[in-house]
Amino acid sequence: MKDIKILAIESSCDETAAAVVRNGREALSNVIASQIDLHTLYGGVVPEIASRKHIENINYVIEKALKDASCTLDDIDGIGVTYGPGLVGALLVGVSEAKAISFAKKIPLIGVHHIEGHICANYVENKNLKPPFVCLVVSGGHTHLVVVEDYGVYRILGKTRDDAAGEAFDKVARAIGLGYPGGPKIDKIAKKGNPNAYLFPRAKISDSVYDFSFSGLKSAVLNQLNLSKMKGEEVKPEDIAASFQNSVVDILLERAMLALEETGICKLAIAGGVASNSAIRRAFKEECKKREIEFYYPSPELCTDNAVMIGSAAYYEYKNGVRHGWDLNAVPNLKLGER
Ligand code: KG4
Ligand code: ZN
Repeated sequence: MKDIKILAIESSCDETAAAVVRNGREALSNVIASQIDLHTLYGGVVPEIASRKHIENINYVIEKALKDASCTLDDIDGIGVTYGPGLVGALLVGVSEAKAISFAKKIPLIGVHHIEGHICANYVENKNLKPPFVCLVVSGGHTHLVVVEDYGVYRILGKTRDDAAGEAFDKVARAIGLGYPGGPKIDKIAKKGNPNAYLFPRAKISDSVYDFSFSGLKSAVLNQLNLSKMKGEEVKPEDIAASFQNSVVDILLERAMLALEETGICKLAIAGGVASNSAIRRAFKEECKKREIEFYYPSPELCTDNAVMIGSAAYYEYKNGVRHGWDLNAVPNLKLGER
């Protein structure tokens, strides 16, 4: 069977990324120009700055991805690009670039859903992973519990009603003075803290056992900080970080395990930036071992935004016959499963 090589482009937030992926499973290159340092100055992503930086970086990133993979555009069978969800101006840079290359070189164009990309990162590092499996996607913008029924076929069990898990990490980190992006910083200092120092809430949604809510947890942390300040008590940021993280772990674990029980599926994957959190990985590994569930997770580099995951998702969409036309547009609030 002929190899299928996808040139993939990702620009939905603050990383400009390109990669060449073979047969959906093998990264021939993985180039990421991160803007994190720039946005750190402002305490979060500034959309207008992100779009401008994507324009500056995108050609260079694509050329490097082709060069690292020892390819030219003549070797490429499809162009995969994230077209939503994300920041509209940022997405438009990748989509316009992908359309231009696709038009000029007559290469099929495949628009990819960003969350589908996160899920597919698992295919690249776990060659044996095949649907069906349950996937928990936890990133800066999304928290979704999904049944991957087949390649490109998703059933959403639950999602967040308010903040995403990563957003909660970033907001709590800011409150305890750690700066952006907060997730990795909380992860680091929590190792030195007491996870039972504070009992933060584990909110449940009355009409959906699979939905998430993190805004109450974030508020509880902020209230605790205010209370301690008013009482003149010393607060150790390590204890706040560890106790907050402990609560997030419980919330995520409970719903993921329920999904496995109720669907009868014995495979679980996690994905998205927050999936690189060491406490989450540890707790999930332990619980899955106990329950004899196969547990899959990408390496930290493929958890956060990258184009390899988009190349993998695009490959399966390509195999399913998905092709987009010149009218492909950026869709900031694209729903998973929509084409
Ligand atoms: O998947 P991602 O790169 O971007 C989105 O699609 O949103 O996720 C970024 C998010 C940020 O909120 C960041 O704080 C969080 O992932 N994150 C982490 C860790 N590494 C990144 N959260 C907790 N622990 C980590 N180690
Ligand atoms: Zn992402």
